Amino acid sequence: MAVPARTIARFGVAALAVAGMAGVTLAFRPPPPPEQPVPFSHAIHAGELALDCRFCHWAVETGPHAGMPDMETCAGCHWPVATRPVPERLSWVRVARLPGFAYFNHAVHIAADVACATCHGEVAAMTRTRAPDQPWTMLFCLECHRARQEPAHGTGRLTNCYACHR
Ligand code: HEC
Ligand code: HEC
Ligand code: HEC
Ligand code: HEC
Ligand code: HEC
Repeated sequence: MAVPARTIARFGVAALAVAGMAGVTLAFRPPPPPEQPVPFSHAIHAGELALDCRFCHWAVETGPHAGMPDMETCAGCHWPVATRPVPERLSWVRVARLPGFAYFNHAVHIAADVACATCHGEVAAMTRTRAPDQPWTMLFCLECHRARQEPAHGTGRLTNCYACHR
């Protein structure tokens, strides 16, 4: 039986689109770390000095956002020796962000023992903070949610669209 030309055309286009997407996925590299207002290093502070992540991102266990530290958090160690005035709040360039239509909550993940590195990579080893190697696709979130679903969660609580799109 002859395959209608329109079907061939459509499949051809689909195959090209899939090949194109695979190319993009294979070629994915996180962008290089952005220039920050101050050259902050997690490798020094969270690595060498072994400061707990929560020392600076103190809201990570209690709310949806981890939060970015203000200058008071740095002052104990840096202000006495600062050689130039430091503004109260620096505008850090963000590297880890979801599109606005996807909802995320840190506290529930920390309470469920999901390590920071699972999503952010080895931040404590980064001299300059960069985006995670694993892009935050919907599948990245869903794969773990499917695996971690428990009867106690109720039918589909973690996989239902409204969990992340509210
Ligand atoms: C399950 C994945 C996951 C885990 C585990 C996780 N994060 Fe995040 N983190 C995210 C996502 C997603 C965002 C972006 C949220 C957004 O844009 O709405 C984010 C954003 C951030 C930000 C930017 C500021 C903010 O509040 O949005 C910081 C800082 C941060 N995380 C620190 C941490 C630290 C510290 C830990 C461990 C104590 C941690 N994260 C654990 C996924 C995770
Ligand atoms: C517990 C003390 C402590 C705190 C808190 C702290 N720092 Fe540091 N910081 C240090 C030490 C120690 C060094 C290493 C000094 C050196 O190598 O000369 C350092 C180095 C730095 C450097 C130089 C980095 C480089 O690559 O040479 C910058 C910039 C910096 N800190 C910014 C910050 C900022 C911003 C904060 C707050 C978010 C902060 N620090 C909080 C102790 C601290
Ligand atoms: C001394 C304070 C300090 C400590 C300790 C610290 N951070 Fe940070 N963190 C910062 C500052 C300042 C920034 C913004 C500058 C930058 O991106 O390097 C930041 C940025 C981040 C970001 C990027 C958020 C975004 O959207 O751009 C992540 C993720 C993060 N921290 C995770 C962690 C994790 C995980 C730990 C523990 C292993 C940790 N931090 C420990 C001060 C700290
Ligand atoms: C490594 C595992 C893992 C990854 C990756 C992960 N999550 Fe979760 N997430 C969980 C677990 C476990 C829970 C349930 C905690 C509980 O209530 O017991 C959860 C709960 C949630 C909740 C609360 C659901 C509710 O209704 O209570 C939201 C929202 C959420 N995750 C969004 C995300 C998003 C968005 C991503 C991707 C950026 C993500 N998660 C990645 C493990 C993960
Ligand atoms: C565990 C969290 C989670 C669940 C559950 C989830 N999504 Fe998503 N979804 C995301 C995240 C995160 C993104 C953003 C991904 C990105 O930026 O690449 C996204 C993106 C999307 C997009 C935009 C796709 C695009 O290419 O831009 C659509 C449409 C969507 N989701 C629909 C759904 C539907 C329908 C369901 C239910 C069947 C669902 N999602 C369940 C986390 C989730």
